[in-house]
Amino acid sequence: MIDMPIHEEGTKLDPCILVIFGATGDLARRKLFPALYNLYRQQQLPGRFAVIGLGRKLSDESEFRDSVCHSVKEFSRKVEDGACGEFLEYFKYQRFEIEDPEAYAGLKQLLEETDRALGTGGNFIFYLAVAPEQFAQIVERLSHERLAEAEIGWRRIVIEKPFGKDLESARQLNRRITRVFNEDEIYRIDHYLGKEMIQNIMIIRFANSLFEPLWNNKYIDNVQISVTEADGVGARGRYYEGAGAVRDMVQNHLMQLLTLTAMEAPVDLTTRSIRDEKVKVIRSLRRFSPDMAREFIVRGQYGPGSIDGRRVKGYREEEGASSDSMTETFLAAKLFIDNFRWSGVPFYLRTGKRLPRSAASIVIEFKAPAGVLYFEKYGELLPNVLVIKIQPEEGVYLQFNAKELGMRDRIIPVKMDYCQNCIYPENSPEAYERLIRDVISGDSALFTRWDEVENAWAFTETITDAWKGHEVSFPNYAAGTWGPKEAEDLLRRDGKEWWSS
Ligand code: BG6
Repeated sequence: MIDMPIHEEGTKLDPCILVIFGATGDLARRKLFPALYNLYRQQQLPGRFAVIGLGRKLSDESEFRDSVCHSVKEFSRKVEDGACGEFLEYFKYQRFEIEDPEAYAGLKQLLEETDRALGTGGNFIFYLAVAPEQFAQIVERLSHERLAEAEIGWRRIVIEKPFGKDLESARQLNRRITRVFNEDEIYRIDHYLGKEMIQNIMIIRFANSLFEPLWNNKYIDNVQISVTEADGVGARGRYYEGAGAVRDMVQNHLMQLLTLTAMEAPVDLTTRSIRDEKVKVIRSLRRFSPDMAREFIVRGQYGPGSIDGRRVKGYREEEGASSDSMTETFLAAKLFIDNFRWSGVPFYLRTGKRLPRSAASIVIEFKAPAGVLYFEKYGELLPNVLVIKIQPEEGVYLQFNAKELGMRDRIIPVKMDYCQNCIYPENSPEAYERLIRDVISGDSALFTRWDEVENAWAFTETITDAWKGHEVSFPNYAAGTWGPKEAEDLLRRDGKEWWSS
């Protein structure tokens, strides 16, 4: 046992045991173990703590600890000497077949033993880093073994995305999970909420008198939310084939960016008040009819092409994708929020795989100044723009007009650029660090409540429904380009263009 009594901010974290289903899988290896390591390194884990890894691929604890050590070395943002020493003492392992009822009895025994030995007070977190088809089954088996109810201590369950694959399946899944766990014990992950700059959106908006008074349809011309990726679907073709960009990115990550950008100020900073405001935004989104979808949504699928001088294959050639697949890997859309604040302001969304660059940003373009004074002399000026840079660079960028140095009296756009990760290169925690720490401390503000998920599905389903029977010809963009030409036209028709991040 490692003794680390109090975490950095002085809050005493309850002792607990974290059980990871899918501990030999990709998510655990790439994200969860490095995040745990960084929490350990920063003294952000409880004094009495253990991780029980459950998986099929490894045979025993020593192999498992080796794999944790490798994952930290390969994926952690920082590795200090001794990373594979004391830290590994947290980890226990059990070979585990999710389908096998006996396995849960074994888990129960191991949990009880570990709990007794460490004095973790019956506080258990169950982290489901497994395929979504397995979520409900695991929850029901935990309930059957009476592991889901706490006689002493607490229980929390962490569920990875996707939470359902459409509105109906999400509702069914939720019904099965909430028969066993209460809403406040359920932590539905959207890892974008753990990203530094996404947590910063509300602060930029509501802790500055500079922006909030202008944050409405009187002063804002349009908003662009863009999450682009240079990677293709990699080894996840089988999952992606049934998902596509709408289910994989829009229903969750882009919806979160949109709600945080557009929500009203919450009455206070409690989880409930913030989530209440986010839900109102989703409910105010104008639903898509087939005609609207044709006019305001562009979908695409990448064909072969090249990125950074490297040839890459088309989506239909990816492992797990069908050779005549109609799954979209790109989406650009113009959305409308029908409320007093935003009426008339287009929200342009764009996301896609195999684009030239991986980047995420929110761009607020302000309205042009009145057409007098400088306008008469110089014609239209470039708009003021505020860019919230989410990744890879983190920060905020404000563009405004000023006089060019010299005699010519020219007006040029200048910028104030705050680059957070240039200033604090070491301090940018990975999303999963923050999220795991929040689960341990029982703070669910950065997780999605059921009605957020449900309303997001209800909205995005209007897109997928509108597409039914209206096929487009795929592939329609080459890997390494910015998507189908129609995505440019979508903005050009409005006299705008995508902000290049
Ligand atoms: C995941 C999607 O939720 O987010 C992936 O399933 C996507 O398809 C990923 O690549 C993007 O996350 P990030 O943090 O790399 O921007």
